[in-house]
Amino acid sequence: MLRNTIKDLSTTILNNQSDFDTIKNSVDEIHKHYLETTKIGELGEGVQHMAAIPTASGMALSLNHAAACLLDYRRTAKLLNGMVTLIREKQEQHPNETINIFYAGCGPYAPFVTLVAPLFKASEVQFSVLEINAASIKTAEKLIKALELTNYVKEYHTADAVTFQIPDAKKYHILFSETLDALLYRESYVPILWNMLPQISETCAVIPNNVIIQANLTFPKQEGQDAQKEKEAATILDVREAVKINDGSQSLPKSFAPTTINLAGDDIYYSMIVDTKVHIHNDIWLHRNESSLSIPFEMEIAYPLDAPNVTFFYELKPSVELKLQN
Ligand SMILES: C[S@@+](CC[C@H](N)C(=O)[O-])C[C@H]1O[C@@H](n2cnc3c(N)ncnc32)[C@H](O)[C@@H]1O
Repeated sequence: MLRNTIKDLSTTILNNQSDFDTIKNSVDEIHKHYLETTKIGELGEGVQHMAAIPTASGMALSLNHAAACLLDYRRTAKLLNGMVTLIREKQEQHPNETINIFYAGCGPYAPFVTLVAPLFKASEVQFSVLEINAASIKTAEKLIKALELTNYVKEYHTADAVTFQIPDAKKYHILFSETLDALLYRESYVPILWNMLPQISETCAVIPNNVIIQANLTFPKQEGQDAQKEKEAATILDVREAVKINDGSQSLPKSFAPTTINLAGDDIYYSMIVDTKVHIHNDIWLHRNESSLSIPFEMEIAYPLDAPNVTFFYELKPSVELKLQN
């Protein structure tokens, strides 16, 4: 039975979080089964499965690109670990209750249903899934059926998570939405949290719990030094802090408040590195270069400085991206 094969592979990933080769082999094997079952390799060749879809704020990945996220090995392994740990914590906090999960942006494989549900009974966890891409959610439904997991999924919504009103929102224990890219470029994680956090209960946990964009300054490398020395310069954006101001009555701002970093002073720097720190749950983070989501952006600093100040701001309209102010 395919569901048991996936359950075994999921368990292997959970039990081998620091063994990259085992994670990679298990995820590759899962991918092979999912490809065979959904046949997205065949249907996914057309342009309609390659093009990103505009949302009310930000862009949603095409079916093919969303499917490929599964193969971001450490991302998938850590999100799976975070999700299963969190479900078990919620079970302890709410004994004998079904844990309700809202999954915004499930993609064609809905991995955080299809890898997670086999580890629990349907009386323990129930999912509602939402996806803006109709082809992706249709494929996810097909895979969920093939894995005999239909009794774990209550609702399917084809809708934009940036504007969606969640029915019976307060019942959810967990909101899952991995709708982000490095530097929070283009995708809708921030507008989705802006819309959904005021709807759900205050005790509802979110995965990823937060994203922090942070600037670090590196010093010129000294001879004989292994690692380049660096220091924290500023937090450019702390998503959970930034969206806190919305109690549900506010519309999405055009941008968040800017952050200025002053480079003047006695220190001479080599570069500025902007990191995307993805906090999944508890002590589970995606660190620099562990995933495509946490690839850093590095800018060399040239002396003499043209201007001592560098100002960043996160724009939400018309496009969703981190910008440098001139
Ligand atoms: C990065 S992919 C992740 C797919 C899958 N959840 C995973 O973790 O492998 C994000 C998915 O969220 C969907 N998505 C992005 N923005 C959305 C929005 N505003 N409303 C609904 N779905 C969205 C995309 O279409 C894509 O399928």
